[in-house]
Amino acid sequence: MPAGPLKGRIRVPGDKSISHRSLMFSALAVGRSRIEGLLEGEDVLATAAALRMMGATIVQDGGAWIVDGVGVGGLLEPDMPLDMGNSGTSARLLMGLLASHGFRASMIGDASLSKRPMGRVTEPLSQMGASFQSADWRLPMIIEGAHPAVPIEYRLPVASAQVKSAILLAALNTPGTTTVIEPIPTRDHTERMLRGFGVDVEVEESAGERRIAITGPCDLKPCDVMVPGDPSSAAFFAVAASLVPESDLVIENVGLNPTRDGIYRVLEQMGANIDYLDRREVGGEPVADLRVRHAKLTGVTVDPAIAPSMIDEFPVLFVAAALAEGTTVTSGLEELRVKESDRLSAMAAALGAAGATVEENDDGLTIHGSGGVALAGGGPVATHLDHRIAMSMAVAGLASRDGVAVDSIDPIATSFPNFTALLDTATR
Ligand code: S3P
Repeated sequence: MPAGPLKGRIRVPGDKSISHRSLMFSALAVGRSRIEGLLEGEDVLATAAALRMMGATIVQDGGAWIVDGVGVGGLLEPDMPLDMGNSGTSARLLMGLLASHGFRASMIGDASLSKRPMGRVTEPLSQMGASFQSADWRLPMIIEGAHPAVPIEYRLPVASAQVKSAILLAALNTPGTTTVIEPIPTRDHTERMLRGFGVDVEVEESAGERRIAITGPCDLKPCDVMVPGDPSSAAFFAVAASLVPESDLVIENVGLNPTRDGIYRVLEQMGANIDYLDRREVGGEPVADLRVRHAKLTGVTVDPAIAPSMIDEFPVLFVAAALAEGTTVTSGLEELRVKESDRLSAMAAALGAAGATVEENDDGLTIHGSGGVALAGGGPVATHLDHRIAMSMAVAGLASRDGVAVDSIDPIATSFPNFTALLDTATR
């Protein structure tokens, strides 16, 4: 339904990537860590449950989470399969952790996760000595870690922070120097946070490439972690406030790591009205309060080089494009086909059903915007167990005549449990 304007001040939950890492690194430290602002979404809780099954103590204490770690190399063999639910980050990063522990573990996931490729992590981790059994490099999988694992030098064939992080996690319990080479920089939360836990992470940049090296085995010192708000979650509200006339919304405490802020740069190119208030640092990450006011958006051609810094934000960018004046062209987005769903075909179908004009190409979408005219709406559209499709289409619904129905809002709980409540608050 055409919604009332988004007004007031909101705070989105903690960053998902940083939350996973804060639990994993705390579990590897000797002693007690404290995490504030942890995202309490299903994906992060799957990581917590897996770490508990391997010996870490993780408890909630008021608003904070307390973790008593077991030390690098101290994880115990789990006696049940580790259930990763919908969470690719949990699965891939924990595979890295398990790769340098000398025991067997099995890993399972939901229907979406069980379709996603794991060969991108099992390949380098096999080179380190781990072995994996699965039908086709997908979950369910049995992982047999190596102890000691062997260090490798590995050039990432896909721009993936998950693959980089899996190798760096394995490196923590591997004697010698493991090096990951990133031809295209990806989110660097692992490197930043490991330094906070006292690990010497060497990063060299030359000719646009980054070489990241860790010499193991490492000791992690317990740490107090502050998790900033998730820029990926804030993006739904930034687009909604841009699209709905008369909106003037402040989203507080949004992480703006340069490896994550691509969506805001592209929205500004499209003419969005975003002010960055009170820029500061929280937990070693740049943060600001974002004031977003309604603006007339114009279609753009998105430079594929910006994709890694907004890889999870394309679904909601496509919604902004569907309401902009003129055409938006995206390309170089093959990776979107192997996220929680095939986000190119899922968004082309969903936006098409809601009345937008969308062409699907192999590696991107071309969207002819309505020039601000509300979409017809309709549905129910298929979300394919993908939280970001559900939230993006909820935002499209705000800018539509009849509203957009989605087949299920359940997946939203993986990353943003209070999404609908916050949307109600902002549009009240
Ligand atoms: C993540 C990295 C990204 C992103 C995912 C979280 C992470 O995946 O899509 O939601 O926490 O490292 P890739 O690194 O595979 O692109």
